[in-house]
Amino acid sequence: MSDRVAQDLASRRQEYETAGLDIADVDADPMVQWKRWYAEASAADCTEPHAFVLATIDADGWPQSRYLLVRGADDRGFTFFTNYESAKSEQLAASGRASMLFTWLQLHRQVRVVGEVERLPDTESDDYFASRPRDSQIGAWSSPQSQPIPDREWLEQRVAQMSATFGDGIITRPTFWGGWLLRPNLYEFWQGRPSRLHDRIRYVPVGSETASDGWQLSRLAP
Ligand SMILES: Cc1cc2nc3c(=O)[nH]c(=O)nc-3n(C[C@H](O)[C@H](O)[C@H](O)COP(=O)(O)O)c2cc1C
Repeated sequence: MSDRVAQDLASRRQEYETAGLDIADVDADPMVQWKRWYAEASAADCTEPHAFVLATIDADGWPQSRYLLVRGADDRGFTFFTNYESAKSEQLAASGRASMLFTWLQLHRQVRVVGEVERLPDTESDDYFASRPRDSQIGAWSSPQSQPIPDREWLEQRVAQMSATFGDGIITRPTFWGGWLLRPNLYEFWQGRPSRLHDRIRYVPVGSETASDGWQLSRLAP
């Protein structure tokens, strides 16, 4: 690391002046609260407000993380789409667990979500795939996600081959591509405040892991 970068990283400080967060103000349902923050992030023109970091654990116990885009948020939880043969999908299938982290830095906010994961029903994946732009559909067919490939040209040739194969016809969803659903069993809403005295509100299910009896809220020390 150059001296200038090291100095910048060590000395960079920003005071967070945005409004605070209190148990009295948040919704009793964390999904409602998440939607409220998502709407505010969209309205504030945060970059890709639907982006989140998906954290998984690999077969050797190493944490792995990468950005994805959330495509649905409803009473069940959050949905996202990817290649079912990718590294992340293997990790999701093996552990059945994951964490999602949403970060809206312009608002000094993050939301951590932890839960169990399962594949979306095929019909939901079909519907979403059908709604995607044609180039993205061809991209899904062309890319053996997470596998080593010889070079960029190899990929471009695959795309050309797939385009020729499909012609002008309807492109159906490949069985190796589809959606995942994360059913949350923990949420944490974090709001940056001045002097590092940030607000943190955690939601855990009352009684059981399913949240059918509602959520218990706690304030955590920053
Ligand atoms: C902002 C952003 C959004 C992304 N969205 C997706 C997505 O929705 N689905 C996906 O498969 N990969 C997405 N990616 C690429 C992933 O980060 C990752 O490189 C890819 O899925 C392979 O991950 P894996 O090898 O851990 O399975 C996105 C990357 C960025 C930076």
